[in-house]
Amino acid sequence: MAKPSGWQWPAIRYSLYAIISMAVWACAIEAASPTVTAPLPTAPPPQVQITFAGTPTPDPALAPIPKTTLTATPDPACALYIADSHLLTPIVDRDSALTADYEPLDLETPSLAYRNSYIVPIRIRAEVIQPLKDMLGEANEFGLQIMAVSGYRSYEEQAVAYEKWKRLYPDRADTISAAPGHSEHQLGAAIDFSAPFMEEQYGQLFHTDFFKIDEGRWLYDNSPRFGFTLSYPAWAEQTTGYQWEPWHFRYVGVELAQELVSRKITLAEYLAQCAPAP
Ligand code: DAL
Ligand code: ZN
Repeated sequence: MAKPSGWQWPAIRYSLYAIISMAVWACAIEAASPTVTAPLPTAPPPQVQITFAGTPTPDPALAPIPKTTLTATPDPACALYIADSHLLTPIVDRDSALTADYEPLDLETPSLAYRNSYIVPIRIRAEVIQPLKDMLGEANEFGLQIMAVSGYRSYEEQAVAYEKWKRLYPDRADTISAAPGHSEHQLGAAIDFSAPFMEEQYGQLFHTDFFKIDEGRWLYDNSPRFGFTLSYPAWAEQTTGYQWEPWHFRYVGVELAQELVSRKITLAEYLAQCAPAP
């Protein structure tokens, strides 16, 4: 490799100075952040570290959503975000990623009724289990058979899924699958649902016609009562960056799920509005 020439040394040195200055500046900002005035949740702090991917861009309108810190915000409409921000609502989208080693500490395998299970039992966070059982139990009472097919996926498992989509559809894989670190499945709070006859009838477990069958329609209408929200609706493809997935729901708690319905916005939009400035 060629050694840097004489004129390059100062450039390298000044770059290092710039990086060190930025780090010092970031620490100073952190130290100067206002103290938390909102009530803190009683649960332990999350084991979530958010890092930010995405290519830096000179256009601030396109810049990734900045790292969030738990600070009070004057917007009362964002109270739900503050109350719950430590637990279930970190931003995980195309710009914001979880670290490769992030894994929720409380993953469990829910003992679902046989009719609600698919070949491999899913793992999800403990807090999601009872709402999931309640929701599927009520659906069963209506004669619906909804299967929980996919829950927690590790960073490595997501990488395998992403590569598969890249091979199949190189041009649009990024609108179908999240890159590793960017999947809500890594949070252990997102679940993909299907119904037993989807494969037979549509050739695949996950198909947008899920929305047309009773199981998918019922989930869409009723899941917010149990704290689940549809992450990638058809009407939000432009903002989420993902194609419509009528089967992918994320648990955010009843209050917030119902707030999203009343505002007709996705969790991503809500968080973009309510995440406090760094
Ligand atoms: N299909 C969704 C976007 C995921 O891969 O998490
Ligand atoms: Zn999914």
